[in-house]
Amino acid sequence: MDKFIIKGGRKLHGEVTISGAKNAAVAILPAVILSDEPCVVENVPTISDVTISLRILEEMGAEVTNIGKDAYRIDPTKITNTCVPYETARKMRASYYFLGALLGKFNKARVSMPGGCPLGDRPIDQHLKAFSALGAKYTLSQGMVDLTAEKLTGAQIFFDVVTVGATMNAMLAAVKAEGLTIIENAAKEPHIVDLANFLNSMGANIMGAGTDVIKIRGVEHLHGTTYTVIPDQIEAGTFMVAIAATKGDAIIKNVIPKHLESITKKLEKIGVNIEQYDDSIRVWVDGPLVKTNVKTAPHPGFPTDMQSQIATLLTLAEGTSIITENIWEQRFRYVDELRRMGADITVNGKIALIEGTGKLMGAPVKACDLRAGAALIIAGLAASGVTEIEDIYHIERGYDCMEGKLRALGADIEKVSVPDTAKNSTDKASAKSDKEAV
Ligand code: EPU
Repeated sequence: MDKFIIKGGRKLHGEVTISGAKNAAVAILPAVILSDEPCVVENVPTISDVTISLRILEEMGAEVTNIGKDAYRIDPTKITNTCVPYETARKMRASYYFLGALLGKFNKARVSMPGGCPLGDRPIDQHLKAFSALGAKYTLSQGMVDLTAEKLTGAQIFFDVVTVGATMNAMLAAVKAEGLTIIENAAKEPHIVDLANFLNSMGANIMGAGTDVIKIRGVEHLHGTTYTVIPDQIEAGTFMVAIAATKGDAIIKNVIPKHLESITKKLEKIGVNIEQYDDSIRVWVDGPLVKTNVKTAPHPGFPTDMQSQIATLLTLAEGTSIITENIWEQRFRYVDELRRMGADITVNGKIALIEGTGKLMGAPVKACDLRAGAALIIAGLAASGVTEIEDIYHIERGYDCMEGKLRALGADIEKVSVPDTAKNSTDKASAKSDKEAV
């Protein structure tokens, strides 16, 4: 088991470059299945969710070649297997994108139900509603979702909730369906637009991605393409908060400032200085940090995936802040760990009350999900003393070389391997299999 050891108290300085967006890459890689020719995908982050996606593609019969830093050539033309078994699917929540991509290409798919996860109940009813509207029939049995369709036909799909995953899956399944599909109450995240741009670069006809109505006119064939994944908005936001929490001054490169607007606005309210350039930003703190309130919401609102990081910053600010988590019911599980570091946070349902104490103290803690892990790193960087973070496999699912990038900014962080004792390894193996899909 690896863990991070952080000696806190160093201000972050210098430059950091953001990698490709996880939540775009995990949809774009399965989307390659829809192409009748090989595709090249660039700016793919080196994270374990990507490794798993590529492994699933290979297990299906695709030929995957790493053609340089962060770029892959994927030839989907020899895919014969349309099943993603439990053993692979459980490791990554986003394996559900193989449902939409396989259905869209082969009119059938068999994918293990994404497992439970540490964020609470994660239903896929809206994904199934979209597939049904397009003409697919589904069965759920023994933990597998089976989809079949004689043919897919364009349809009107109105989502009951704003959902990123179901919006992407509806696009994947509809892109080759006959006629016009209209998705209403669609999610508007930057990765939705990125998936649409990727599909359009293969010859798809998708309009309106980034608004709440997406129109898709089905096409018969999709051709090969070379495509660059957008920078990761949440990785950028995480570094913004890390720089602010250490009262540092650094440049974050390879970002789309527009994607960071809701995060930038909140950080400015807290007292963080941010200067935007074309594809980079400078973040620095030269005064006190002050309280603010944050409510998570679908894009363009404040992203739930930045909630734990900004909460950590608010423990270092003056005054009482209120955080309202509106997307995931169990996204405050990191609070117990932050309390071990001296944070004063009370949680009641979807509301957390943070009494800023202005300081944190190092402690041994555990990452309980990806963004919780990022929050603990930020806490460790700002805290006095040493913080040891266990279960960092959660962090490595979604952050590309986090410790290397932080070290380059002057942080004292190292990754160490700790040999498991027999009991420890049993406990951790079962904990890991429970928690893997996020
Ligand atoms: N929902 C339903 N039914 C559905 C689908 C979703 O009720 O069929 C509900 C969910 O329970 C939730 C809300 O709708 O309350 C939003 O869920 P959404 O479908 O948008 O989430 P997701 O697609 O499963 C993606 C990201 C998450 C991110 C959310 C919200 C990926 C692979 N995951 O999840 O990312 O939190 O959107 O923005 O794109 C992360 O990166 O740490 C992460 C968890």
